[in-house]
Amino acid sequence: MKIQAMVTTGVMDFEQQTLVLDEPKSDEVLVKIVATGVCHTDATILDKSIPVPYPVVLGHEGSGIVEKVGGNVTTVQPGDHVVLGFTYCGHCDNCLDGNAGGCESLLPLNFGGKNKHGETPLHTENDQDVSQFFGQSSFATYATVDEGNVIKVDKEIDLRYLGPLGCGILTGSGTVLNSLTPEPGSSFVVFGTGAVGLSGMMAAKIAGCYPIIAVDIHDSRLELAKELGATHTINSKQEDVITRIIEITGKGAHYALETTGVPEVILAGIRSLRVKGEIAAVAVGTRDLALNVFTDIVGPAKTLKGVIEGDAVPQLIIPKLVQFFKNGQFPVDKLVKFYEFNQIEQAFADSKNGSTIKPILILDKTYKA
Ligand SMILES: NC(=O)c1ccc[n+]([C@@H]2O[C@H](COP(=O)([O-])OP(=O)(O)OC[C@H]3O[C@@H](n4cnc5c(N)ncnc54)[C@H](O)[C@@H]3O)[C@@H](O)[C@H]2O)c1
Ligand SMILES: [Zn+2]
Ligand SMILES: [Zn+2]
Repeated sequence: MKIQAMVTTGVMDFEQQTLVLDEPKSDEVLVKIVATGVCHTDATILDKSIPVPYPVVLGHEGSGIVEKVGGNVTTVQPGDHVVLGFTYCGHCDNCLDGNAGGCESLLPLNFGGKNKHGETPLHTENDQDVSQFFGQSSFATYATVDEGNVIKVDKEIDLRYLGPLGCGILTGSGTVLNSLTPEPGSSFVVFGTGAVGLSGMMAAKIAGCYPIIAVDIHDSRLELAKELGATHTINSKQEDVITRIIEITGKGAHYALETTGVPEVILAGIRSLRVKGEIAAVAVGTRDLALNVFTDIVGPAKTLKGVIEGDAVPQLIIPKLVQFFKNGQFPVDKLVKFYEFNQIEQAFADSKNGSTIKPILILDKTYKA
């Protein structure tokens, strides 16, 4: 079928084109995209920090309505509302262990341009292949995806808000709920209060952490962090982070989530932990980090770990996050600003300059919640 898609062929480049999308195979699902989040990881492809085969249709936080399913698909049917997640193989050691975010094939499956069949369902009208991204390529009016990429969600919830639950929001909240697993009453710090950090912070509140400290360099973001559950905020341009965190927590923090990717911030995060403290790093940073192995990590028995996609199985965590959203415990709508599809460049610019936390592009303007 013919679809409209934003095709990227070079650095910071989008061109709306008519593409040809393959029909779903027996294990695939055709989804009409209603809306899609813009994630910082899309921007890392646009500035070529991470390579993908060009041309590509980016977008990996889609939400939409199932249009058609292949013959072997059992978990969704036409008309179902779905969030699109990342691709995982389902049979490596980590997938079998319930840690799809740690899938051994995560990078080739999501950044390699091809789906599980080793193909792309996207082609130009002259029959040239266009790479698929994260098994979905949601900067398009329709997507043909593997059944494992779709997560059925409650039809009562406004679908336009739910796409980011597939990546950025799942990453922050899953890292806290699945990987750090803080005990109620334990202290928690988030470095960077973008979509990932704020989601992690809201999850820390659900987990019963206290105090909850938010660190950023923008006061407007820290204001929102307070509204969403931070008990303390630190503008690291104005105050010394390590001193303040130790003042607030007494002995340093039990847990921290690092979303800036700035090596100096990661080091400050490690140094503001208490003995046996744990910090999870999730940002796509490109610079090296230098630390003292003994005084920073081994001596105080601290843990620095990298976490991908919140150590989560999307089918398990996303319905829970939707429920938290419905209950008012997880107000992701406060992070969001809607844009039209052709305002995609503005959406990326506003994310970069910090004026919008989570841009969401509306693909289907006829959708009514
Ligand atoms: N690991 C994963 O699976 C995964 C998934 C999704 C996103 N990510 C990555 O997570 C990171 C965060 O994503 P996001 O959408 O929240 O990005 P974002 O840019 O919206 O948020 C980053 C925040 O860090 C703050 N910041 C920047 N420099 C700082 C500094 N020196 N000190 C304190 N704060 C600082 C910014 O002001 C901003 O609020 C990105 O690198 C993204 O690519 C990783
Ligand atoms: Zn796997
Ligand atoms: Zn993402």
